[in-house]
Amino acid sequence: MSQTIQIDYGPLTGLIGDWHGQKGVDIAPDPDGEEKNLYYESLAFTEVGEVVNAETQKLAVLRYQQKVHHLANDKVFHDETGYWIWDADRETIMHSLQIPRAVSVMAGGIWRQTVQKQNEIVINVAARADDQDWGIIQSPFMRDNAKTEEFNRQLIIADDRLSYTQTTVLDIYGKQFKHTDQNELQRTL
Ligand code: HEM
Repeated sequence: MSQTIQIDYGPLTGLIGDWHGQKGVDIAPDPDGEEKNLYYESLAFTEVGEVVNAETQKLAVLRYQQKVHHLANDKVFHDETGYWIWDADRETIMHSLQIPRAVSVMAGGIWRQTVQKQNEIVINVAARADDQDWGIIQSPFMRDNAKTEEFNRQLIIADDRLSYTQTTVLDIYGKQFKHTDQNELQRTL
């Protein structure tokens, strides 16, 4: 007889499903300074299940896919995929992501249950190019011309609402630039 195994995704549980948001604001680098882009996006989280490392580290894993379109002309201008990983024993959230500019991030953060406001779950992860634990890998071209130095992402999950803010610190066009993105999404599935 087969039995469905219930997996505990901890603070990530509320992410599972499909989301849509159209209040996106992107501030991105431009040779003349910065550009502001308004966007809408779809974001989908699916269950991978349980993963065990070295027979001791037990992880609960979600896979996600994000697609971002210009509000003005529907053109896709950001595509992202990766995993959200919950390590309950270490109270740690790990978040790996790839973007098609040849940049990969392995971010992490401690998560502990705190007093919640309106069922909110707040998740913070971060990575730095020079950090041994939570790092950033990028192609030689990107390292030399548009280096991602730091990445910080915050998610707030509140039932059928999800919002995020993120700052990607870049070294581009001869200076440091804070590339920021934020959006508010509703669950569609
Ligand atoms: C909603 C999410 C995001 C949007 C809408 C977005 C959008 C943009 C835009 C419009 C540019 C300017 C260059 C261009 O016009 O193509 C840019 C540059 C860049 N973004 Fe993002 N981005 C997002 C997330 C990220 C993330 C998560 C990373 C890395 C962790 C990242 C890394 C970069 C880098 C390295 C550049 C410099 C490349 C260049 O301007 O030539 N972005 N992004």
